[in-house]
Amino acid sequence: MAGRKTADGKIADRRTSEHFNRGSVRKADILAWLKERGDYVSGQEICEHFGVSRTAVWKAIGQLRAQGCRIDAVPNRGYLLLDTLEAYGADGLKSLIHTKWAGQRLCYFDTLGSTNIQAKVEAENGAFHGTLVVADMQTAGRGRRGRGWVSPAKTNLYFTIMLRPDFAPEKASMLTLVMAHATARAIRAQTGLDCGIKWPNDIVVNGKKICGILTEMSVERGYIHYVVIGVGVNVREQEFPSEIADKAACLDAECGAKVSRSALLADIMSAFEEDYESFLAVGNLSRLKESYDRMLVNRDRQVCVLDPKGEFRGTARGITDTGELLVEKEDGESVQVYAGEVSVRGIYGYI
Ligand code: BTN
Repeated sequence: MAGRKTADGKIADRRTSEHFNRGSVRKADILAWLKERGDYVSGQEICEHFGVSRTAVWKAIGQLRAQGCRIDAVPNRGYLLLDTLEAYGADGLKSLIHTKWAGQRLCYFDTLGSTNIQAKVEAENGAFHGTLVVADMQTAGRGRRGRGWVSPAKTNLYFTIMLRPDFAPEKASMLTLVMAHATARAIRAQTGLDCGIKWPNDIVVNGKKICGILTEMSVERGYIHYVVIGVGVNVREQEFPSEIADKAACLDAECGAKVSRSALLADIMSAFEEDYESFLAVGNLSRLKESYDRMLVNRDRQVCVLDPKGEFRGTARGITDTGELLVEKEDGESVQVYAGEVSVRGIYGYI
């Protein structure tokens, strides 16, 4: 279908969402079924199973292939799903996201300025809690502290989940830690890598950053209108800009195998839904703290706290129930460091 306008007023290359697919066979369902069957399935069987015409099946298979799914077709045998590793698109993602609400409404774009900006547009247009905006490429990716986020095509994960929480705005900063925890869990599960979290929300492998998170919110008269949590994960090997080349890494190189972007994103959605519900049940991070601290790479290391009110050094000990970093100063005093204006560095480098 023709694209709709995005945040910058341009027409997106391609946009797909549940909403616009009504009435036709969901390619995501065909994909999931082919995967489940794990063998050749005849076109006729697919038609009967989904109650659609031969042409509809043929068209759906063609579109899935265009999204990168490798589907073999043999006369008199039918279709076999070979793999979906390189596939990255709305249907592949939908076939893998098995959550109750996180990512159940998906807005996928080949190209966007920024998924965070688009998620805000979706929110302003009344999108549901849990709406997920994904782009294969961003032309104006945003990082923290006004920096950019280089976002080439066919390489990484760039996505934003939009939430409509019913709690005080002061609690929203904890959501970044919830997302960091969930993303780190999913990366560990998908790759077997021993990744960690650099407080509050960078994810690192072997001392290098592989993921950044940018949370933004809209507050109205003291209550949260919506929150958007944007995540960028470096997946494929790539040339990083010179200013970050010595501290950035990607998953493929670190684990020595190709990681499926779709499977990783689907796992992040499941982990986030679970962690968000743990957070919501008590209104703080107490249920996630132990596991977060186990992944905290700064733990028991000397850190330099870059506070605009004055820099100081100490040893990081873990997080509080509300997400501050506990730092034991050289004189023995224990300080709670709030994220926001403050950043924390290792005394000899990034960690
Ligand atoms: C950081 O500076 O560490 C945060 C980077 C966050 C980048 C992601 S990519 C998807 C989402 N859209 C954006 O424009 N930024 C975030």
